[in-house]
Amino acid sequence: MTRRAIYPGSFDPLTNGHLDIIERGLKLFDELIVAVLVNQEKKGLFPFDERLTMLREAIPSPQVRIDQFQGLLVDYAQKTQATAIVRGIRAISDYEYELQMALMNRRLAPHIETVFLMAGEAYSYVSSRLVKEVFQLGGSITGLVPPIVEERMRQKLDKK
Ligand code: PNS
Repeated sequence: MTRRAIYPGSFDPLTNGHLDIIERGLKLFDELIVAVLVNQEKKGLFPFDERLTMLREAIPSPQVRIDQFQGLLVDYAQKTQATAIVRGIRAISDYEYELQMALMNRRLAPHIETVFLMAGEAYSYVSSRLVKEVFQLGGSITGLVPPIVEERMRQKLDKK
């Protein structure tokens, strides 16, 4: 049986911290579905199709499927026959929010497990939010995001 897990998130944008979690997740699962939440209320920096394109370019692995989802994560997990949800934890501050989501998801779908993976220390302070803030204020984000993400962020800033 294929061990399939979902790695959900906003990925606005993808960071090297996300890639680190994907690499670790692939040691535990045969297949990972990186699923971008389509949230019409939260516009974000990159439109969904661009986030998907960047994910596809940055993660060419045949074990990783890039997709989008709407509605409840557990419904999407059931539809795709995934048995687990992977989430990355950087610091204790992430834990409270993650625990709430994991327990709510467990209540909704008791047979789906949430698996927390610790990001490498080098990424313990890296978040999409801070990457965007630093970049928009002129700071360097080299090494924090894949080169193609940095390039697209630069293009966005040039267009302004
Ligand atoms: O990268 P993020 O923004 O922290 O990811 C949050 C995400 C997408 C995992 C979370 O918002 C989510 O699963 N949303 C789907 C809606 C849902 O299922 N909500 C109820 C369970 S908490």
